[in-house]
Amino acid sequence: MNLKGKVAVVTGGATGIGRAIALKLADRGAAIMIADINDEAASVTAAEVEEISGQSAAFLTDVTDVEACEALATATADTLGPADILVNNAGIAGSAGWQERSYSTEEDWKRTYQVNVIGMSNVTSVFREQMTERRSGRIVNLASIAGREGRPVIPHYSASKAAVISLTQATALELARFNITVNAICPGLLWTPMWRQVGDRYARDNPAYEGMTARQVFDAMIEERIPMKKEQTPEDVADTVAFFVSDDAKNITGQALNVDGGFFMR
Ligand SMILES: NC(=O)c1ccc[n+]([C@@H]2O[C@H](COP(=O)([O-])OP(=O)(O)OC[C@H]3O[C@@H](n4cnc5c(N)ncnc54)[C@H](O)[C@@H]3O)[C@@H](O)[C@H]2O)c1
Repeated sequence: MNLKGKVAVVTGGATGIGRAIALKLADRGAAIMIADINDEAASVTAAEVEEISGQSAAFLTDVTDVEACEALATATADTLGPADILVNNAGIAGSAGWQERSYSTEEDWKRTYQVNVIGMSNVTSVFREQMTERRSGRIVNLASIAGREGRPVIPHYSASKAAVISLTQATALELARFNITVNAICPGLLWTPMWRQVGDRYARDNPAYEGMTARQVFDAMIEERIPMKKEQTPEDVADTVAFFVSDDAKNITGQALNVDGGFFMR
């Protein structure tokens, strides 16, 4: 699918999965706006995108700040044009120091909901106007398999990702009449900095994984839980985003698709 002439905004696009999504959509020809709190890494990724699709920008955005989100929407329209595609990827696993704690604190719940759920809603709200005016748009939200079923270790994160799936369905219903699709992706096990910290928590708090390194926990979970017996990658997730924003997915909305090698089959 050629995305030449399309403008895509990727929140949290500076690093990790978001960066892979930005590079993939650029490879299909889209102009990319990277919206991230990590300004330095965002500029590096925007420069990489520039090499691929020739059109990119980075805008310092905290998705929890409504005014910053409004400024992002204006900057996108002014520099690249109105957004055709929004990928709500920015997400966190807890508030500062979550990886050191055995139980979720009130601050973990608040901060995680603030970024993963309310932040997603903030960004969607400012871009839906650009999309509804033109009766066209694609929105992809990053959920997680942790949102499919309550998982131990980081309950606040699991609950926030279940909320993302619900938010996706509600937004899809609201925007369907404007020819805007809204779908979610539930990535499985990816060996990322986030998972390294989760693995450390499992090793410390779950007797089944006692004494293991984070990587050993990760490998054990792949062996136990993933029928395909392989880890997922940021590129796997980016490929799925590319599908959802393509014409091939024009009649798909309100769905949450697991990219998890069969970990969950619902
Ligand atoms: N890594 C995994 O194993 C995994 C699995 C399932 C789902 N996910 C989800 O995928 C998404 C990306 O995860 P990742 O592993 O690439 O994480 P990451 O930490 O590598 O990247 C997240 C990006 O979001 C940015 N960000 C954080 N808070 C922000 C805010 N308030 N405003 C704007 N930007 C902000 C960060 O600066 C960073 O660039 C997240 O939503 C995460 O929950 C990740």
